[in-house]
Amino acid sequence: MAEMNAAQLLELVNSRRVGEDGNERVRAITARIVGDLFRTIDEFDVKPEEFWAAVKWLTRLGQADMIGLITAGLGFDRLLDIREDEADLAAARAAGTARAIEGPLYVPGAPLSRNEVRLDTGNEDKGTPFVMEGQVLGTDGQPVPHAVVDVWHCNEFGRYSHFDPSQPEYNLRRRIETDELGRYRFRSFLPPGYAIPPDSPVSELFDLLSRHGNRPAHIHFLVSGEGKRALTTQVNIPGDTYLDDDFAFATRDGLVVELEQAESAAGYESLGMSAPFTRIRFDFRLQDAANEREALAASRYETAHG
Ligand code: DHB
Ligand code: FE
Repeated sequence: MAEMNAAQLLELVNSRRVGEDGNERVRAITARIVGDLFRTIDEFDVKPEEFWAAVKWLTRLGQADMIGLITAGLGFDRLLDIREDEADLAAARAAGTARAIEGPLYVPGAPLSRNEVRLDTGNEDKGTPFVMEGQVLGTDGQPVPHAVVDVWHCNEFGRYSHFDPSQPEYNLRRRIETDELGRYRFRSFLPPGYAIPPDSPVSELFDLLSRHGNRPAHIHFLVSGEGKRALTTQVNIPGDTYLDDDFAFATRDGLVVELEQAESAAGYESLGMSAPFTRIRFDFRLQDAANEREALAASRYETAHG
């Protein structure tokens, strides 16, 4: 059949070679997506020049390594969290600290310290210094000894090390191993908000959508401990204009921290604090892991599918 209409073409695209199975799930999902796109092209009467402009844009997006950025802005990252929350609820799993998106800017292997660290090493006097401290607990409230708190945030210009080659390696990225009581603490400076890179394929789309690309000030965490489900989350700094208007939809109840004024620096000498200073208290509550994979402190890109 050399001549065909769109429906016949779609059927051919979604058919498989006789006698070969391929992957049923991949075939079914691909068929759905291709079918949806055929329909979109038809409904909107997409012209060839529009289609190829979109292909060029996708190519540039990939070349700029920004596919993982745009997913957040289009809601997919939060969608996956919503679905995990729903799965927990359906399975009657005790909820821990709310999960929040990893974002595209995590780097594994940050330097590891015991109990406490200065996350701001090399960034002294860059903003309001603060100490964040607390415990890693189970959903039963029991401490998780030797848990690992992996923490990262952007620099004073809203840029993340590794992705911004002008910053030193692992700048503003550290891991802290908790003590026997699950305690951790670190010093840093309050980071500013983040904005998607201007003049990028991502900003091009957001301009066309009349959407901004700003995130409120936030600090990322990947917290793990023996027998516990690794938790990817963020906390927000209160008062930010974009707190309830996050381009990545990641703000969550219970994750906007309180900034306290500590009147004495006694006990904080090792972090170089002088009174008064800003303190954040925050405990992380980890769910029990249902299997070994859940306990792995893994980036979202470390998938079982390679
Ligand atoms: C994006 C950036 C972030 O810092 C973040 O935490 C989440 C998403 C982004 O550019 O998509
Ligand atoms: Fe971020």
